[in-house]
Parts: sequence; structure tokens; C-alpha cells
Amino acid sequence: MRGGKDRHCARPQAALAEGGILRVTPGTYSNVTLFRRMLRQARPYWPHIATTLLLSLLATPLALLTPLPLKIAVDSVIGSHPVPLFLESLLPADATHSKTAVLVLAAGLLVALALVSQLQGVGISLMRTYTGEKLVLAFRARLFRHVQLLSLSYHDSRGATDSTYRIQYDAPAIEWITLDGVIPFITAGFALTGMIYVTARIDLQLALVALAVSPVLVLISQAYGRRLRVQWHEVYKVQSSAMTVVQEVLAAVRVVKAFGQEAREQERFIHHASEGLWARIRVAFAEAGFGLLIGVTIAVGTAIVLLIGVRHVQSGVLTLGDLLLVMAYLTQLYGPLQTLSWLAGHLQRSLASAERAFSLLDEAPDVAERQDPRALARAVGAVAFRKVSFAYDDDHPVLRDISFEISPGARVGIVGATGGGKTTLAGLLTRFYDPTAGQILLDSVDLRDYKLTDLRNQFAIVLQEPVLFSTSIAENITYACPGASRHDIVAAAKAANAHEFILGLPQGYESQVGERGMRLSGGERQRISLARAFLKDAPILILDEPTSSVDMRTEAAIMEAMERLMHGRTTFMIAHRPSTLTTCDVLLAIENGRLAEVESAVSTAASAGPVRSWGRP
Ligand SMILES: Nc1ncnc2c1ncn2[C@@H]1O[C@H](COP(=O)(O)OP(=O)(O)OP(=O)(O)O)[C@@H](O)[C@H]1O
Ligand SMILES: [Mg+2]
Repeated sequence: MRGGKDRHCARPQAALAEGGILRVTPGTYSNVTLFRRMLRQARPYWPHIATTLLLSLLATPLALLTPLPLKIAVDSVIGSHPVPLFLESLLPADATHSKTAVLVLAAGLLVALALVSQLQGVGISLMRTYTGEKLVLAFRARLFRHVQLLSLSYHDSRGATDSTYRIQYDAPAIEWITLDGVIPFITAGFALTGMIYVTARIDLQLALVALAVSPVLVLISQAYGRRLRVQWHEVYKVQSSAMTVVQEVLAAVRVVKAFGQEAREQERFIHHASEGLWARIRVAFAEAGFGLLIGVTIAVGTAIVLLIGVRHVQSGVLTLGDLLLVMAYLTQLYGPLQTLSWLAGHLQRSLASAERAFSLLDEAPDVAERQDPRALARAVGAVAFRKVSFAYDDDHPVLRDISFEISPGARVGIVGATGGGKTTLAGLLTRFYDPTAGQILLDSVDLRDYKLTDLRNQFAIVLQEPVLFSTSIAENITYACPGASRHDIVAAAKAANAHEFILGLPQGYESQVGERGMRLSGGERQRISLARAFLKDAPILILDEPTSSVDMRTEAAIMEAMERLMHGRTTFMIAHRPSTLTTCDVLLAIENGRLAEVESAVSTAASAGPVRSWGRP
């Protein structure tokens, strides 16, 4: 079941917007910052990462030990050298001179080494998968929690797909960076240090010459690193825009079909997807160029060592054997050096992803909570607007200078032309958005002083476009109160006049409603979302055209049920039909974002009062 543990939950229908993309400027974060934040995020799994690292480091001694059985067989079985000292203890005292015993020992050692090596491989693989999956899950969960906390204006403007892409495809960067980046970086670093030490002991000058290519490698890595990062950002941007097309079309598949626009949408998708394809090819070219430069630089280094080495041999400073040895070590030394350079380039992809994920985390919700917010168990229900203005963007003011006061338990009707700002006004009340000027008070306290979850728990809302979740009807009704009993669910459904149609469905309350409730009619969806509001015993009701998609008879039944629901609660009811507003105590008329008229009436006289006067020209 969805929802939190408590009886009331906030934000029931947030985070459903679509379209739009969040911008990230490549290079917003330095590499150090990204690594630091990634490692901090991975902190609970440091022991796992360290274990994986230790297992990886085991590879070097195992590789060094692998030829040992052969050496023993050649030297001590075929030849007549004594068995290496440390192995003598493994043999019974009288068997050290038995060639058969030594041969069996060599064979046993070979099997044992193979076994340890395989176990090491299995260990790494299991640790890697476990740690990697855990890391990604924790990071995704953090991103998802944050996305849910972001305010509606973020979702309205940035859309759902880009956030989805970041949670699904960018979050795994934490696995790539820690397990495929940091661990090989450390192991290669160890191997490099070892090889430098060994080479320097044979010929210091040659070791220095061999290392002289390192600054060049660093420069190449840096130059390409920046370029690759920018290119990966481009890849992610176009890939997520291709995904936006798919999501948009699938979410509105009825409209696409109704207008016969399948071919056009197909073209739009292919256009975005091919941009992604070319962006990937550009990255592949850059990476190939990068690999080429690294390879050539290393070959030049080897060639210089060869030139100087031969001179040293000719002048008698170095023996031929030593030169051969140095050349052999050089390949081993350049191995890790090449890995390090490669990593610097290849990590750019993960770093670009990490940058996108962190920039999502760094989006601050603009409806923020105060440092020490006020708790609110149950509001009395007095609401006041003081000179409230609001705009979604700077150029288009939606509400201007609105002031009114509502006493607890009053029924407020909100009327006005379409697009006038009625839904916006209700959104300000629940703090989906904050006013750009002025103040909204609940029980004489500014909304911004309350704890957000406490504040939203005070409202039961029926949105203009009811949205259901792809689960059963019963779960949809209990969305705000997960612990509700079947008796309460049925009572709420009866009150919303939904019980009968629900029983008429093959699986009754367990019927699945389909994604966003698409398997139900508009009126059925609306009645279920009404039942959801009925079940949530909140002191303030907000009904945004609650009966707009039902027929007159159902409307009358719902209004009669709502009559009971509204009793003792402050109610804001937005409606176009005057019949819906007959029982209101106060009528607010919004016109071009301003409060044009406030009418009060005694509810019993209302049918002849405020509505009619509102209807006057
Ligand atoms: N998320 C949004 N971002 C930007 N502008 C918005 C947003 N939502 C609404 N608007 C604009 O704000 C104005 C008021 O919209 P609102 O939804 O409050 O109107 P309404 O009075 O509820 O209309 P209706 O009766 O059609 O439901 C409209 O001009 C609309 O275009
Ligand atoms: Mg509206």
C-alpha cells in the first residue's frame, strides 16, 4: 500500500507533471567535490568497499604465486635444487628428498592456487554486486525522497521525465565511481608504485625517463576529460528528451490516437533518439582519439627508454640482461599508468551522471519549512488572506491583493471565470505554492510557520482533475489513511455515492483502476476521490468542482452526502454551477485575479441569496 504510517498523509497527488528538462551546466562541481560527495553518500558501505578493494589487491600476490608450482617441478623434481624453505614445512620431514612427494606437493599447490584464485574471483563478484546494488538503491531512494519534497512549481516547470531519468539512469554513477573508479585507481596506484620501485633499483635514469611521459598523460587526460564530460552531458540531455516523448505519448495515448498523430509522434521520437545516437558517436570519436593519444605517448616513452637503454648497454653501464629486464618491467609499469589515464577519461561519463544527480539533490524546495516549525494537531479552521498576491512567473500575476476572513466552520463558495485563479487560491491555502506578497493565516498563524506535514494534514482535498493510483479501489480510498477498516471504507464510499457502482464491478473494492485510474469513467474517478476525502477526517475541506463530471441526479446525492461531511468543517468549494453553491455562507468572486465581490448569507436563506446576486450582471 502507498502512503505513510500516520493516519493523515500530505501531498496526495503531487509530482505528476510532465515535460521539460532541468539544466545542469557541465563543470558546476569540481571532481574533488563530486568524489567527496559520492564517498560521503557511500559511507555506510565503506567496509564493503574496503573488502572488495582488499580482495582485488589479492590478485597481485596470486599472480606472482601462479608460476611457483612450475618452478618447483622444474627446479626440484626434474632438476636437483632443494625445495624452497617455506615449503619444506608442508612436507613430512622424511619426504623432502622424495621427488614424488615434491611433485605431488607441486601439483597440490597448483590446484590450491587455482582454487584460491577462483574463490577470490567469486568473492569479488559477489561483494561487487551486493555493494553496488545497495549503493545504487540508497542513492536512488535519496533522490526519490528529495524529488517528492520539491515544490509543485519545480514539477510544473521541469516535468517528470528528467527527474525519472536522473533517478533511474544517473544514480548508478555511485557504483561506477566507487567500485569501477576508486578501486581500480587504488590498485593501479599500488601496482605503479611497486613497478617504479623495482625499475628504479635496476636503473634509476631509465626509470625517470620512463616516468617522464606521466605529465604528458596527465595533460591529455585533463584536456580530454573536460571535453568528454561536456559531451556526456549532451548525451544524457538528448536521451532524456527522447524518453520525454515516449512518456508523454504513452500518458496521452488517447489524444494521440484521437487526432491520428502516431506518425508525427514517431518522427518526433526518432528525431530526439537520433540526436542521442549522434551524441554517442561523437563521444566514441573523442574517446577513440583519447585512447590513441595515450597509446602513442606510452609507445614514445618505451622507444626513448629503448634508445637510451641500448646506449647504456653499449657504454657498459647496463648489462644486456638488465636492459631486457627493464624493458619487460616497463610494459608492466605502463599497464597501470595506462589504466589510470583511461580511468581519468572514462570516469567522465560517471562524473557527468553524478553531476546531474547532485544538481537534482541541490534543488531547494521553494516551499521550505522554517528552522523550528510549529506543530499543529488539529486546526480550528479560521482562515484569513491578507493582501495576498501570487504569480507563477514574474510576468503573469495570477492573484492580486486578495484579502478576506473566514470564521471556523464556514462554507465558502469560490466562483469566477475560468482561468481566474480559483484553483491557484486553493493551492496557496495548502502551501503548494507560497504567496509572492501578503500573508495567509490559519488560526491566526502564518501558514509558513507550521510544519508542512502538519499543515497539509488539516486539509481533505478533491482536485479538479481527480488522479487515482494504479492499485485497487479500496487502496485508493484509504490513500490518506492506510489503516482504515473495511467498514470505514464502505461508509466513505457510500457517502460519496460510489458504493453501488463499486459493487457492480467484477471485483468490487478490489478492482484495479488502471494507471491514473484510466479504467474508470470521469465521474467514477471523481466519486472515488471524494470518498478519499470523506475518509480523511480533516478540519478543512477543499473541493475543486467536486461534481463537475457527474450527472444531475448523482450531483444531488453527492451534495446531500457532502452536507454531512461539511458539518463543523471549514469548506472551500469551487464551482461553476450555481446549484452547487446554494448552501454557502460566504461567496468569493474572483475576477482577473482580484476579489471582485464577497457576499455573506445565512445558509438557510442562501438558495435565494448570494448565488442569485452573484449571477446578476
Ligand atoms: N502551474 C502553472 N504554471 C503557470 N501558470 C499557471 C499554472 N497553473 C495555472 N496557471 C495560470 O494561472 C491562471 C489561473 O489558473 P487557475 O487554475 O487558478 O484558474 P481557475 O480559476 O481554477 O480556472 P478553471 O475554472 O478553469 O479551473 C491561469 O491563467 C493559468 O494559465
Ligand atoms: Mg480550476
